[in-house]
Amino acid sequence: MASILVLNGPNLGRLGSREPEIYGSMNYEQLVGELEAFAKEHGHSADVRQTDSEAQLISWLHEAVDARMPVVLNPAAFTHYSYALADAAALVTKSGLKLIEVHISNPHAREEFRHKSVISAVASGVIAGFGTDSYKLAIQAI
Ligand code: DQA
Repeated sequence: MASILVLNGPNLGRLGSREPEIYGSMNYEQLVGELEAFAKEHGHSADVRQTDSEAQLISWLHEAVDARMPVVLNPAAFTHYSYALADAAALVTKSGLKLIEVHISNPHAREEFRHKSVISAVASGVIAGFGTDSYKLAIQAI
């Protein structure tokens, strides 16, 4: 049984009310419940967290390395410009752990600034555009 860290970046705590036409109507608490149940059905456990802080996300990635936990990461807007988060994500994958980058929407079908991810090059894989099912696909991949 693997314990999977599912990390969410800025504004994802507002799921449900934030641009529901893009991110859907499920709120963050419902997402947490669904992912915990889904991981359990697959014989794993999911520790689902959200923060608006870059420093907090980085320290959770360090924790993943130290505790040898695979990671599902929705870096939200940090995806597009945080080299500090990319360096922390590289620590995870270079230590032999899986880190799957996920997005609820398909950033490539949106504004130009969302087309670039500084995380993808250091991720084990990327899943985007399947709504909140993107997280479940990532858990399955792990
Ligand atoms: C997102 C896409 C990002 O461009 C955006 O900044 C988010 C959410 C997604 O899940 O589709 O906050 O990562």
